[in-house]
Amino acid sequence: MRKESFVFKERRQKLLSLLRQHELMKGSADLIFLIGGFEHTRSVFRQESSFYYLTGIEEAGVAATIDGNGFTTLYIPQCGVSRSAWVSSAIEPNDQSKQRLGVDAIEYLGDACKGYQFSPLFSEKEYSNILSKLEKVVKNKGSIYTLNSDNSHEYIEQKQVLARIKTFKADLAPAVQDISSTVAHMRRKKSKREIELIYKAVDITLVAQDAAARVIAEGKKEYEIKAGIEYVFAEAGACTAFPSVVATGKNSTVLHYFPGNTIMKKGDLVVVDIGAEVDYYCADITRTYPVSGVFSKRQRELYKIVLDTQQYVADLARPGYWLNNPEQPDKSLHHLAKKFLEGKKYANYFIHRIGHFLGLDVHDVGNTLEPLEEGDVITIEPGIYIPEEGIGIRIEDDYWIVADGVMCLSNELPKDPESVEAMAQGTFDSDEEEEEEDESFN
Ligand code: GLY
Ligand code: MN
Repeated sequence: MRKESFVFKERRQKLLSLLRQHELMKGSADLIFLIGGFEHTRSVFRQESSFYYLTGIEEAGVAATIDGNGFTTLYIPQCGVSRSAWVSSAIEPNDQSKQRLGVDAIEYLGDACKGYQFSPLFSEKEYSNILSKLEKVVKNKGSIYTLNSDNSHEYIEQKQVLARIKTFKADLAPAVQDISSTVAHMRRKKSKREIELIYKAVDITLVAQDAAARVIAEGKKEYEIKAGIEYVFAEAGACTAFPSVVATGKNSTVLHYFPGNTIMKKGDLVVVDIGAEVDYYCADITRTYPVSGVFSKRQRELYKIVLDTQQYVADLARPGYWLNNPEQPDKSLHHLAKKFLEGKKYANYFIHRIGHFLGLDVHDVGNTLEPLEEGDVITIEPGIYIPEEGIGIRIEDDYWIVADGVMCLSNELPKDPESVEAMAQGTFDSDEEEEEEDESFN
């Protein structure tokens, strides 16, 4: 068994015990049913995050069941042609695979499908084995526990599969129960190993920010900077956690702007909002650079307000506060940021939330109405956007919630206006900073 498969097995056991604590998964007929992600021609396959979190399995089109004893069966598509001739992730249904993946059994989902890929629009026959298993649950008056949250942005393919199953077997519908909030709560609390992986992703993102700052100059195009950033990621064996944002001039006021061929002009700002993903774990870091290497008076004034807002929120963030809870505005980081900006008369120019959970997904699962706890990882990312002035400024860092506050994982990337200017001029010397810091310890 691979060392890591113990981690996934432990998580499945933890899930079972949490469900039992919630008075779920008690009968012998009950079953957890997990559905993996599907391949798409225009993007590299990446396993659905909760399926990965609970199994570590990186193959597409698969499903898994877990019974009350933790017995885990992996279901794989039976492909019409040899899948291992097409992809390197193919799983053979044998003891070696069971051992390697840390599962107790491997079976086919059903009859053979056409080709090497399995579609979420499968036929009843292609899903016949798993359908029989689910029918047995219903016959024995059990429940099917699966990821089927109310949030319309989550588990989209999984819900597609559930809907398809219900068209074949309508009697399964009443047995389906959602466990997404329990899994989300588990995913919120990061282990030391998970923090290490996020930190690796952060580290690569810092290198890419530094590289971007050095290349930003009058006459450069946004996509040139993006190409450099993604080269740094690829060279480090990472990929992008989300589409990179490199937005200059008025584009900087568009939150999820996709880099185009806008030419950088002296006097403009550039928002660089990027994140590497390493072993499924994401970073998300934003800096705003002046193209000329020097902020104008107005830009600097606004930049300072954004920076002060971030510092204010980071100083408050700790267990017992909320990321975003309208019913607790005095301890809700989003509402505190809004209030701080209100005092500066810029609350109306802060048009998004103060941050989000970070982990296997860049906007990670987790209920912002539950208070922050040790082990959470969040972003704090205030911004001011004034389209009529062509000014957009955002500063974003990644924070690990610890017992008495936060640890900023991206602390090494400077953000005070002078250092950001020096970075954009290509004159920032990080060694010099370190030396100064070292001296302060003497
Ligand atoms: N970094 C993109 C976002 O948080 O939406
Ligand atoms: Mn973010």
